[in-house]
Amino acid sequence: MNIKIEKIPENELKPLYQDPAQLGFGKVFTDYMFTMRYVKGKGWIEPKIGKYTSIPMGPAAVVLHYAQEIFEGLKAYAAEDGRILLFRPEENAKRMYDSAEKICMPPFPVEYFVEAVTALVNLEKRWIPKAPGTSLYVRPTLIGIGDALGVHPADEYLFFIILTPVSAYFKEGFKPVSLYVEDFHVRAAVGGVGNAKTGANYAASLLAGAKAEQKGFSQVLWLDARERKYVEEVGAMNIFFVFGKKVVTPNLSGSILPGITRKSVLELAKSLGYEVEERPISIDEVIAGIKDGTLTESFGSGTAAVISPVGSLNFEGDNYLVSNNQVGKVTEELYIKLLDLQYGRARDPFGWVKEIGRF
Ligand code: PLP
Ligand code: COI
Repeated sequence: MNIKIEKIPENELKPLYQDPAQLGFGKVFTDYMFTMRYVKGKGWIEPKIGKYTSIPMGPAAVVLHYAQEIFEGLKAYAAEDGRILLFRPEENAKRMYDSAEKICMPPFPVEYFVEAVTALVNLEKRWIPKAPGTSLYVRPTLIGIGDALGVHPADEYLFFIILTPVSAYFKEGFKPVSLYVEDFHVRAAVGGVGNAKTGANYAASLLAGAKAEQKGFSQVLWLDARERKYVEEVGAMNIFFVFGKKVVTPNLSGSILPGITRKSVLELAKSLGYEVEERPISIDEVIAGIKDGTLTESFGSGTAAVISPVGSLNFEGDNYLVSNNQVGKVTEELYIKLLDLQYGRARDPFGWVKEIGRF
């Protein structure tokens, strides 16, 4: 790929954030973005890094009407020794490839994905925050921009990457979050697109998420669409339950996102001597486990959320505390071990961490 770089004059660059710990999530954007177009008959053309700016498209663009959109999320980390690190970027590239096929879009080549992220992050390295728990969040996105109101895939696409320096996703930081177990609304059904990272799944989640927030909960815990019986995932993360030395997460049923953090936590937990299980978990089993004390901890996993302890579940009007609303030992151990890998503080026996440049 021959990426054209359109430099912004030095005196037109944005001022950096003041306090990295106060960044929150996805509110500040860097100076540059990567773009590449796909045109039927021509393939992927015009790789470019230029100014972060609005996207020109017609009002009949397919993405605006029929939500032909997919995205990814990964982070660039500043290691203390000056290395710039990505965490398993090929996994994001592969998932985006799979998402594209599910939404009838031309898949963005895996090697282009990693090359584009590497080039953009290196150019924007001054934006990678260095305060504890902060990072530069990378948001690759693919949209159908061809104009047509017939319900068909677009004939033109735009792939772009934007960057945002972030601190914690939840306002609670690394503190227990409260989840509302949603037993009416559903996010996705098996046979649908719940296992693709597509905007439509998030649109479907907004109302339930807003209702849960109004009631004072951090996020929704989704149940399966068919029976409202099995636990699926949370609004922006996968879910784990700890039963003593056993770490359990719902199997990839087809309607939940195959999280890269989820996959990493499973491997990490196994390497630390925990027994791990991927299987259907009913909400009744979860509530019974909380009641009889066998369910000792719960946490969510995600790129933005990292590992987020769950402090309580609200189900059918009753509130159940998990780990007494404290951060559990297993959750904390996995959190520390995962961050040590991501920030390059620990030796990486898994080969997950990719150095893409230096400060
Ligand atoms: N589930 C949903 C709905 C998400 O939005 C995310 C975030 O990406 C995850 C799970 C976790 O996926 P990952 O660990 O790949 O970030
Ligand atoms: C991520 O963790 O990368 C996500 O995409 C979650 C999100 C929708 C904010």
